[in-house]
Amino acid sequence: MSTPELGLPMVVPAAGLPARVRIHEVGARDGLQNEKATVPTEIKAEFIHRLAAAGLTTIEATSFVHPKWVPQLADAEQLFPMLGDLDGVRLPVLVPNGRGLDRALALGARRVAVFASATESFAKANLNRTVDEALAVFDPVVARAKADRMHVRGYLSMCFGDPWEGPVPIHQVVRVSKALMDMGCDELSLGDTIGVATPAHVQDLLAELNEEGVPTSAIGVHFHDTYGQALANTLAALQHGVSTVDASAGGLGGCPFARSATGNLATEDLVWMLRGLGIETGVDLGLLTATSAWMATRLGRPSPSRTVRALSHEDRAQDQQEQ
Ligand code: HMG
Ligand code: MG
Repeated sequence: MSTPELGLPMVVPAAGLPARVRIHEVGARDGLQNEKATVPTEIKAEFIHRLAAAGLTTIEATSFVHPKWVPQLADAEQLFPMLGDLDGVRLPVLVPNGRGLDRALALGARRVAVFASATESFAKANLNRTVDEALAVFDPVVARAKADRMHVRGYLSMCFGDPWEGPVPIHQVVRVSKALMDMGCDELSLGDTIGVATPAHVQDLLAELNEEGVPTSAIGVHFHDTYGQALANTLAALQHGVSTVDASAGGLGGCPFARSATGNLATEDLVWMLRGLGIETGVDLGLLTATSAWMATRLGRPSPSRTVRALSHEDRAQDQQEQ
């Protein structure tokens, strides 16, 4: 146990959890992709630089998808080169097909992510393909990326529930997960796109994936926080041994193709919990919170993250005391 610093929780470690968690920061991609008003490219670049300065080492930068499908990220060609000075920071980008991979390769990206769906409805809405048609598109993309020694993440959406189809059977999720791993993905990110998962459901899916040969070391978790379950689900995943967690600075996010998707787990809320549990992340919570507060003013509304709000209030309370 250690004495708490102002604005940080008391550190009380728990047994059986990973010593370190790698946060896969998705604020600049998942966080912004749903924003109606176009965020200027310079602001996106500054956001990513500030996230890196706060200690995040994996920052999903943008998507090389069709610009008509996600207009907010249509500036990928302009943004990515503005990040060239970020030495030592991983900058994965989403690619939906061979055309996306070409665009990413032309700019020197070294990490890409393909994104599949566990349900037919979302595959159609998000990729204009059936589940298997989308997998057939990804197969040569992953093969080409691996031949070029790139790191490939395989996202899988709707792992727990789907807005059109309801609860998603675990075997359906396992089938597509295995297909992504079999085609050569280095990592699998389990998406709770609409935030309906609960902790035992998460643990059941992880156990079933292990049974079917997908190791926990290759799995990341990607929880949206629609029903306030993201942090509880993350703890359940950590208890299972997962050590890669996706989160979005300030809790930004959503999916334009699933209206019931709200923001991702807020990175600040995650860092607060991990810090309290004595789990290393390398993230400076003060710098991160200041970045999300700055972004919130750019977007014109407060951050939904409880931690960002609490720490911002704490700042104000301190200011008042000092006056
Ligand atoms: P489509 O309309 O079927 O495209 O869309 P197509 O293959 O028929 O091609 C039509 C035209 O688009 C062609 O041009 C292509 O060249 C062009 P034309 O020959 O007619 O002039 N095109 C492209 N242009 C630029 N970049 C490309 C590209 N591909 C084709 N990459 C497509 C299919 C996949 C393109 C479309 O559905 C798409 O872009 N979808 C992206 C959807 C998306 O970005 N969703 C959000 C990310 S996923 C997510 O948020 C979930 C996640 O967070 C996890 C979770 O929470 O669950 C990851
Ligand atoms: Mg998402």
